[in-house]
Amino acid sequence: MEKEKKCCCNCGEKDDRIEQVKETIESNKETKGALIPVLHKIQHLYGFLPEDVLHLVSEGLDVPMTEIYGVATFYHFFSLEPKGEHIIRVCLGTACYVKGSQLLIDKLSQILGIEVGNTTEDRKFTLEATRCIGACGLAPAMMIGEKVYGRLTPDDIPNILEEYK
Ligand code: FES
Repeated sequence: MEKEKKCCCNCGEKDDRIEQVKETIESNKETKGALIPVLHKIQHLYGFLPEDVLHLVSEGLDVPMTEIYGVATFYHFFSLEPKGEHIIRVCLGTACYVKGSQLLIDKLSQILGIEVGNTTEDRKFTLEATRCIGACGLAPAMMIGEKVYGRLTPDDIPNILEEYK
């Protein structure tokens, strides 16, 4: 007998995400442009687009995998890799850049041991560079989740990261 799949967060709940994906495919398959809403649903459910689930989409919507990957990599809100618990977004907009936001990225990379676009092995942090986050008066700025940190120097980074450990 097939073992019931449990939710990934150890809450003990049944993991019914794959059923939800199948339902979404079913209810969208006759719709033109169904791929993007289906991918949105998967991104929402999993936090990224797992390859095995994308194969289901390919079969269900009759769309080649190459096309799915093309769409998934074109739109920044889709991710093909699992993201960390905390997403760090360092602003590389003009105001922040001229005030040294690259130095913040360098420091974060050094401490976390990852490059921009990557996630730490323990899945705690994902490091991203972003366009203007609307806090130019606080340049150089970054966000962790929804929280904005401004007027930063590289020396501020270790203490900020401590808040999330
Ligand atoms: S340029 Fe960084 S917040 Fe605007």
